[in-house]
Amino acid sequence: MHGAFAAKSGWGKSWHLQAWMERNAPRYDYFVCLDYADEYRGLVKSGLAVHYIVGPREAAAFGVEEWTTILRQNPRLILARHELGPETWREEVAAPVIQAARRLAQSSGSASSLTVIDEAHWVAPQSGALPDVVKGMATTGRGEGSSSLWATQRPAEFNETMLGNMMFQILGGFTSSADMDKVRRIAEYPADVHNPQKTTLPALPSDLQVDGESIPLRRFTEGEGEDEHTIGSEWVYSDDSGDLRRIDTRNIQMDATHYGAEGMKLLPPEERTEGA
Ligand SMILES: Nc1ncnc2c1ncn2[C@@H]1O[C@H](COP(=O)(O)OP(=O)(O)OP(=O)(O)O)[C@@H](O)[C@H]1O
Ligand SMILES: [Mg+2]
Repeated sequence: MHGAFAAKSGWGKSWHLQAWMERNAPRYDYFVCLDYADEYRGLVKSGLAVHYIVGPREAAAFGVEEWTTILRQNPRLILARHELGPETWREEVAAPVIQAARRLAQSSGSASSLTVIDEAHWVAPQSGALPDVVKGMATTGRGEGSSSLWATQRPAEFNETMLGNMMFQILGGFTSSADMDKVRRIAEYPADVHNPQKTTLPALPSDLQVDGESIPLRRFTEGEGEDEHTIGSEWVYSDDSGDLRRIDTRNIQMDATHYGAEGMKLLPPEERTEGA
């Protein structure tokens, strides 16, 4: 099964994706996460996976054979990107790792592998080179026992064929018009629910309403100014079978810590006070 997570930066994709990993990684024979921003160490701390830092040396030395061996020896693996540009990450790490995970799932009739790709627009871009093996994961991987989860903050820059082949989508809030256009093309419900700035929406299907109201997805924060931080966000889950749900991650159980950095905030200069 293949699924996509998309929402604007800071919406809570990686947090939500980590919760899906925590739930699903133990169910598969092999699990590998391509951790672009090195933020899934929490799953290592909780004992679910082994941490492996992938820098220029590893990228140059390891191909499909080596990754297959490494995964056989460590069937649950978080691969943290270290000092590698997006192109090297795609061509020299993601492509052979994905191929190794697919190969392991094909190696015996009942074997299964789960591959998780964060910042997926770098691995499967809309424009430019898309390695065949990456594309093949979503287009022909289905009968193989290989599953994948792809997360991106730029659905407009994530490969269209890949997105079209997903069996489910988990979409959050967007403000860019290019991304909203893309979401409009895949959502079979009023896509404006994904625009947190909309004040009026057409009537939503009842499964997407909040207490009978048609309101856009929300992000929930605590604290003010420098202390403000995200404590949860809302999403629409939809799949091939017609299942449609509104999800609030404040209600989602996750045992491991998520180490995503919220980044430094920029505060506006303060205003002069009278007489100062
Ligand atoms: N349900 C939640 N409970 C607690 N913290 C959360 C929750 N959802 C998100 N956060 C926190 O909010 C911050 C932003 O979330 P996250 O890193 O998942 O965003 P993102 O959508 O992946 O952003 P980017 O696109 O920039 O990678 C993180 O510090 C994360 O741990
Ligand atoms: Mg993220």
